[in-house]
Amino acid sequence: MRWRRRAVVREYGRVPEVVCQPALLNQALLNLCVNAVEAMDARGGRLTVRTSPSGDGVCIEVVDDGRGIEPGHLPRIFDPFFTTKPVGAGTGLGLAVAFGIVQQHHGTLTATSTPGVGSCFRIELPARPAPR
Ligand SMILES: Nc1ncnc2c1ncn2[C@@H]1O[C@H](COP(=O)(O)OP(=O)(O)O)[C@@H](O)[C@H]1O
Ligand SMILES: [Mg+2]
Repeated sequence: MRWRRRAVVREYGRVPEVVCQPALLNQALLNLCVNAVEAMDARGGRLTVRTSPSGDGVCIEVVDDGRGIEPGHLPRIFDPFFTTKPVGAGTGLGLAVAFGIVQQHHGTLTATSTPGVGSCFRIELPARPAPR
């Protein structure tokens, strides 16, 4: 692995407090950020983390300008063990774990991407998980 310089941009909006499990959300966000950085090549790269209010809850976006995701792969990226990384490099579990965590919070995790331009992963969380 080589050390490289990356830009991290924080665009934090005014958001309400939400009822959540911070340690789990931290894991989900870490998985998204690691993927974003892994999608960048030697030309550089910019990771943007954006928050905004959404309904009574919050929206968190993790955006990169990396290689992007092929349209044919997009429906499979949240599947456990789906990876396009070399054997031994990717476990294919990062997004499956993040998806499960967001589901536990009764939120949604969605991805949009343009190959060669970048990707955006969006978490939407309600103010509090609905009573069961
Ligand atoms: N930000 C991203 N940019 C490009 N591809 C991505 C990004 N995030 C995820 N992917 C794709 O989704 C796949 C699954 O991601 P993940 O579940 O984290 O497993 P892993 O990172 O171990 O491959 C990756 O192998 C990659 O093809
Ligand atoms: Mg990953």
